[in-house]
Amino acid sequence: MPNPFTPTAGARPPVLIGRDAVLEDFRIALEDGPGAPGRLSLVTGARGVGKTVVLAELTEIARTTGWVTIDETATPGLLERVRLSAVRAFETLDLAPGKRRALTGFTVGRLGGAQFVPPPPPRSPGLREALEELLSPVEERGSGLLVTIDEVHRKEIDDLRQIAATFQHLVREDRDVALVVAGLPSAVHDLLNDDVLTFLRRADRQTLADVPLDDVRVALSTTIAGSEVDITEEALDVATTATGGYPFMVQLVGYHVWRRADDGVIEVEAAAAGVAAAQVRLGSTVHEANLASLSAVDRTYLVAMAQDDGPSRTSAVAARMSRDMQYQNVYRDRLITAGIIKPAGHGLVDFAVPYLREYLRDHAARYEMQGRLTEE
Ligand SMILES: Nc1ncnc2c1ncn2[C@@H]1O[C@H](COP(=O)(O)OP(=O)(O)OP(=O)(O)O)[C@@H](O)[C@H]1O
Ligand SMILES: [Mg+2]
Repeated sequence: MPNPFTPTAGARPPVLIGRDAVLEDFRIALEDGPGAPGRLSLVTGARGVGKTVVLAELTEIARTTGWVTIDETATPGLLERVRLSAVRAFETLDLAPGKRRALTGFTVGRLGGAQFVPPPPPRSPGLREALEELLSPVEERGSGLLVTIDEVHRKEIDDLRQIAATFQHLVREDRDVALVVAGLPSAVHDLLNDDVLTFLRRADRQTLADVPLDDVRVALSTTIAGSEVDITEEALDVATTATGGYPFMVQLVGYHVWRRADDGVIEVEAAAAGVAAAQVRLGSTVHEANLASLSAVDRTYLVAMAQDDGPSRTSAVAARMSRDMQYQNVYRDRLITAGIIKPAGHGLVDFAVPYLREYLRDHAARYEMQGRLTEE
């Protein structure tokens, strides 16, 4: 029996926990027709919270309703790929034979011999033209077009601007379109601050958060049972608690705990060993990626926070960094925007990613050193 858990970026989980409301909003938006707010949405949330998975589910919903979908990631060449996908989608639509364009060359008789007339060069409509051309037959059969763009980032801002402007036109013209973009909170924050992207500011914001532990427990239990393995109640409790409700950790814990089943049963010792393995993986994937995308001072701030067992006083963090409150505030805000820490009451902050505190304690020397070196 293959391991039923999916601790891989973008992999569809065996049970999609806690996203019913987001999917339902989107279903309604498709039904409600042009102008429905959910047809322009922005999915955001911390690394590993399940943005890519949600985009894939939205695409699936649109497809089963007969919509045409174009799914892209914001990497160089984004605009051109969306355009080409639209052209290709149009060409592969089931149009009546008479509507198909002739694509082969032909020969005409001429005084002095035959001359080959080459086929017209492949047309290269602009993005707006390509989308409009695709939309006409699609709308005629009562459906629409969904474009999803994952991992939006400031680096691709020029392409995103043009795509947003094109969609703005299409929305104004009441075309049957939907645009959903997804990105990390700090990336989305950057984009929304761009004047030309005000259109996106009006988008429906879906902020994905950690999922309830009760739902995690049910998901772990049904997934494990479905693979013909038993888990004791105590072991299930250990596994559930260890996920902290963080979707990626649900898959990591599930995966490593499941592997340790002995004779088709997961006992509490096996669960504890699986949790420990999952924590190590979490560190080498999510924590390292998160920390690498931060500045050295950001990291020093986190190391200063990690000295506490619970929420940290911002005044204590400032003191540990030997800086004033104003300086501290700059980094506090940056880290909140990045989704790494969260406010935890007046004058308090806490980690927003499970086990980051423990990871930083284990690796403090490395990250603290970097912070000092760059600062002095
Ligand atoms: N709602 C969910 N329930 C259970 N597992 C989930 C859920 N959402 C995501 N996962 C699992 O979590 C992991 C991360 O999901 P995904 O790649 O979609 O996150 P992401 O937010 O796109 O991360 P990144 O910011 O790195 O792109 C995957 O292993 C996926 O199977
Ligand atoms: Mg993703």
